[in-house]
Amino acid sequence: MEYRHLGKTGIRVSELSFGSWVTFHNQADVSAAVEMMSAAYDAGVNFFDNAEVYAGGKSEEVMGAALKQLGWRRSSYLVSTKIYWGLHDNVNEKNTLNRKRLIEGIHGSLERLQLEYVDILYCHRPDKTTPIEETVWAMHNIIEWGKAFYWGTSEWAAAEIAAACEIAERHHLHKPITEQPIYNLFERQRFSRDYERVYKEYGYGTTTFSPLASGLLSGKYSKGIPEASRAALDGYDWLHDHVTDRQKLARVQALEPIASELNCTLSQLAIAWCLKNPFVSSVITGASRVEQVHENMKASEIAPRLTPEILKRIDNIFIGEKEAEEE
Ligand SMILES: NC(=O)c1ccc[n+]([C@@H]2O[C@H](COP(=O)([O-])OP(=O)(O)OC[C@H]3O[C@@H](n4cnc5c(N)ncnc54)[C@H](OP(=O)(O)O)[C@@H]3O)[C@@H](O)[C@H]2O)c1
Repeated sequence: MEYRHLGKTGIRVSELSFGSWVTFHNQADVSAAVEMMSAAYDAGVNFFDNAEVYAGGKSEEVMGAALKQLGWRRSSYLVSTKIYWGLHDNVNEKNTLNRKRLIEGIHGSLERLQLEYVDILYCHRPDKTTPIEETVWAMHNIIEWGKAFYWGTSEWAAAEIAAACEIAERHHLHKPITEQPIYNLFERQRFSRDYERVYKEYGYGTTTFSPLASGLLSGKYSKGIPEASRAALDGYDWLHDHVTDRQKLARVQALEPIASELNCTLSQLAIAWCLKNPFVSSVITGASRVEQVHENMKASEIAPRLTPEILKRIDNIFIGEKEAEEE
C-alpha cells in the first residue's frame, strides 16, 4: 500500500481507504465490520470514512463498536465523518451547514463513534442558504476545540471551495483541505476538469468515492440484478436504471479483455484506474463482505501495471479519443 499526502497537508492517507455507506448496519453488523476493517487495516488502509446520515447514525455506531473491539492505537488510523443532511426533520437540522447544526452534529457523531475526535470532518454537500463564512468559522472552531483535525468538502463546486479557502485565508482560519467527490470510469468530468483549479491554487487533496459506480464496474450486473447486491436492497430501486443501462453494461464488458491480460478482476482494474490520477489522494472503497475487501485491496498492485497504452484503450471504451485528449 502506498501513502499519499492529503493535498498539501502533512498528513498521509493510504491510497486505498474503506467506507461504510450502505453497508454498515444494513448489510454488515459489528462482527462483519470488524472483519472487513481488519482486512483493510492489515492490507495497509489507515483511513476509514463514515457520515452522520449513513443508516441514520447507525453506521457510525457500528464503526465505533468495531473500533472498540479492534483496539487499534488511535494514532495509527484516521476516521472521517460528514455532516449536512441531518438526522431529524426539523427546520434547523436538515440540509444545512449552519453553525448550530455543525457543532451539535460533531458532538453526536463523536458519541456514536465513541471517539474523542475525528481526523477529517466533511461538509457533506454545499448549503446554498447558509453564508459560507458562517460554515468556515464553525469548522474552524471545531478544529480549534480538538473535535476534528482537518476539514473538507464533499461535492462542492470549485467556486464554493475557492470561496471557503479565501474566507479562511482572509481571517487566518483553518482552511478546508480536501474534497470528497465521486470519481470512477463513468463519472470523471467534474473531477478532471472543474476541480483542476482547486488542486493547483489551493493544494486541495481528494478522497474519491464510488470507484465501482456502486458495483456496476465489478461486472456483477451483466446478467441482471443479483439477489445479494446493492441494487437489490430495499430502498435502492433508484439504482436499477443505472446498473441495467445497456450502454454502460457494454462498456463494462469491453473492459474484460484488458482485465484478463492483466490477470486481474474488473473491480481491481476499475479501482486501479482511479489510482492513476495524481490528484487522487485516496480512493474510498466499499464492500458488503470481506472477500470483496481482499479482492479490492489488490488494486494497489495492478495500478503500476496500467501503462499509457492501456489507459488509452480504457479511455477509448469510456469517453472516446477526442474527449480523452481534452482531459
Ligand atoms: N461523500 C459522498 O457523498 C459519498 C457518496 C458515496 C460514497 N461515499 C464513500 O465512499 C465509499 C465507497 O463508495 P461505494 O460504496 O459507492 O463504492 P463502490 O466501490 O462504488 O461500491 C461498493 C459496493 O460494490 C460492491 N462491491 C465492492 N467490491 C466488489 C467486488 N470486488 N465484487 C463485486 N461487488 C463488489 C458491494 O456492494 P454489494 O455487494 O452489495 O453489491 C459494495 O458495497 C462509501 O462507503 C462512503 O464512505 C461518499
